[in-house]
Amino acid sequence: MKALVKISKILDGCCTDQKVTIRGWVYRKREGKRLIFLVIRDSTGFIQSTIKEASVYWNEAQKLTIESSLTLEGTAKEDRRAPGGFEIAAETINIIGLAENFPISKDKSEEFIRDIRHLWLRSRKMNLIMKVRADVLNATRQYFISQDYTEVSPPMFISAAVEGGSTLFGLKYFDKELYLTQSSQLYLEILIYSLENVYCIAPSFRAEKSRTIRHLTEYWHIESEWPFADMNDLMNFEEGLMTYICQTISEQCQKEFKELNVDIDKLKAVQTPFPRITYKDAIKQLKPKNSILTWGLDLGYEDEKVLAEDFGKPFFVYDYPAEIKAFYCKTYSDHPEVAMSVDMMVPKIGEISTGGAREDNKDILIQRMKNQGLKPEDYEWYLDLRRYGTVPHVGFGMGLERLLVWMLDLENIIDAIPFPRTTRRFYP
Ligand code: 4AD
Ligand code: MG
Repeated sequence: MKALVKISKILDGCCTDQKVTIRGWVYRKREGKRLIFLVIRDSTGFIQSTIKEASVYWNEAQKLTIESSLTLEGTAKEDRRAPGGFEIAAETINIIGLAENFPISKDKSEEFIRDIRHLWLRSRKMNLIMKVRADVLNATRQYFISQDYTEVSPPMFISAAVEGGSTLFGLKYFDKELYLTQSSQLYLEILIYSLENVYCIAPSFRAEKSRTIRHLTEYWHIESEWPFADMNDLMNFEEGLMTYICQTISEQCQKEFKELNVDIDKLKAVQTPFPRITYKDAIKQLKPKNSILTWGLDLGYEDEKVLAEDFGKPFFVYDYPAEIKAFYCKTYSDHPEVAMSVDMMVPKIGEISTGGAREDNKDILIQRMKNQGLKPEDYEWYLDLRRYGTVPHVGFGMGLERLLVWMLDLENIIDAIPFPRTTRRFYP
């Protein structure tokens, strides 16, 4: 067998006029009188191949169906007429797995395609999105590592809520009731007392009934926490991370963006510093635009979109009313009605991260828990962190799929993850 080559390498001109072997699946087939045209795909791309009637493999080629797997050997030739500019004149074909009648064809509805996700994942669109997703994860890790953060692995089974109880998934754990984690924040807070700067990339679960383009019930959460830091340090870090991810992807994923027909320039344009406005200023900015937002209400998706359109790039909104923020948020001692909480927002999807300073005073924390109807006894271990060497600390959580929706201009968050979970979707 001649050297096994990835299709993208042939399209890059690695082996012109040389014998190559490729391995993959039949993407398209057209039968002429004396010639069969195949388009073969592998993980890296598509290439056209032709088999002549005179070939001893003509019969094999005739048997081939869409999505059959095979190895194919032949000579790589430059051919302007072929998609991608190259073609393989096939000499040998070995069928590995002959496919039954493949259910996906061009005229199938969006709904149908979503129902057979396990086959749709072979599409070029999903292939490209998943590559970008992997590169975003890599860039994220690179940035954390470059800033001396240690990756940690928090649990998914938990015994007390992090975010509000309304989106908590309960589950039977032997004879007890436990929950699926909504955020790993509290566990990262434990670990800063040992490792200081920590991060994790892990699933979070939300019993989110609303069917929107930005909610999943299971999503991947990039979370980080570190001590001896304030709101300014937090925003500096987050914008540094975001800028690094955008710059890296704009370099690494040009081919993917081009093929997906998505503008990569908006990533190139991401530079520090990001605009920062307070929640109070956000209200003022929204007032002339028919918003009903007043102090004490949370920013809605519509408000976020309007603000994001004004900025046209990532920005921060910070200093929210304490009453709409989680119990762990630190408040200003001279303005206890204001919480040190910050959201990063981007056009189209609005909020992509929430972070803030954490209350490090045990008594204030207990009071905030009580005000929100939580039982301090359920959080004894969390209170211990304030008993033994408490420190000012900050952290944030960013939704990976929301980030991808913005970067790749996706119609819906379900395309940002291979196996989306929503109220209606959990198959396969
Ligand atoms: O704003 P959230 O709820 O904040 C927290 O969970 C904090 N404890 C994070 C922290 O400080 N460590 O969630 C953080 C981010 C959101 O900004 C959003 O990007 C994403 O998680 N997110 C979702 N993504 C997809 N589907 C959902 N249902 C999501 N809910 C939150
Ligand atoms: Mg939030």
